Amino acid sequence: MVPDLAAGRKGGVDWSGRLVAAAFAPEGNWIVDVEIRLRVDGTQHRLVVDTRTTLLDALRERLGITSAKKGCDHGQCGACTILLDGRRANSCLALAVAHQDTDIVTAAGLADGQELHPLQRAFIDHDAFQCGYCTPGQLCSAVGMLQEAQAGWPSAVSRDLDADEVVLEEAEIAERMSGNLCRCAAYANIVPAIREVAGR
Ligand code: FES
Ligand code: FES
Repeated sequence: MVPDLAAGRKGGVDWSGRLVAAAFAPEGNWIVDVEIRLRVDGTQHRLVVDTRTTLLDALRERLGITSAKKGCDHGQCGACTILLDGRRANSCLALAVAHQDTDIVTAAGLADGQELHPLQRAFIDHDAFQCGYCTPGQLCSAVGMLQEAQAGWPSAVSRDLDADEVVLEEAEIAERMSGNLCRCAAYANIVPAIREVAGR
């Protein structure tokens, strides 16, 4: 899509060859649209966004990729959690323009073809959701959390900060997943589901 250069907007190509359009809004703020690329769940996309667009809004509103959910839009609930180059992040706090060379994975991209990710399978087996609204964020967060634990990162409840191996007991999982809220309070099943995968 080409930026709208009508209605008084000025446009051109920036130093990297991207289309850029800028306009001065009536309220006195500059609006800058820029053409960006995003690689989501292995598929490359090109789109034009206002530079203030969050990654969550770019995914949901511009690309129609609705796996990541909007809960608080303020980094408080974790419903929008995705993986950025393998690390979990709140997409409502990330700017789309800052992630053009990032490997972006949503919960919809976790499966290997028809084969569910082990965490997806465990959530089903443990009945670890009710309405399911928080579940995509819980899954991406759990994937990132397991990698953090495998790398030996301690948490606030880790007793030995220098331990080579993190044992993901219940309290560790609850603490490490505390950024992902579940309004249905399915925690009693979410934690065992993650624990089952962690123990493999
Ligand atoms: S929507 Fe991003 S943390 Fe709540
Ligand atoms: S399953 Fe409903 S919010 Fe978590």
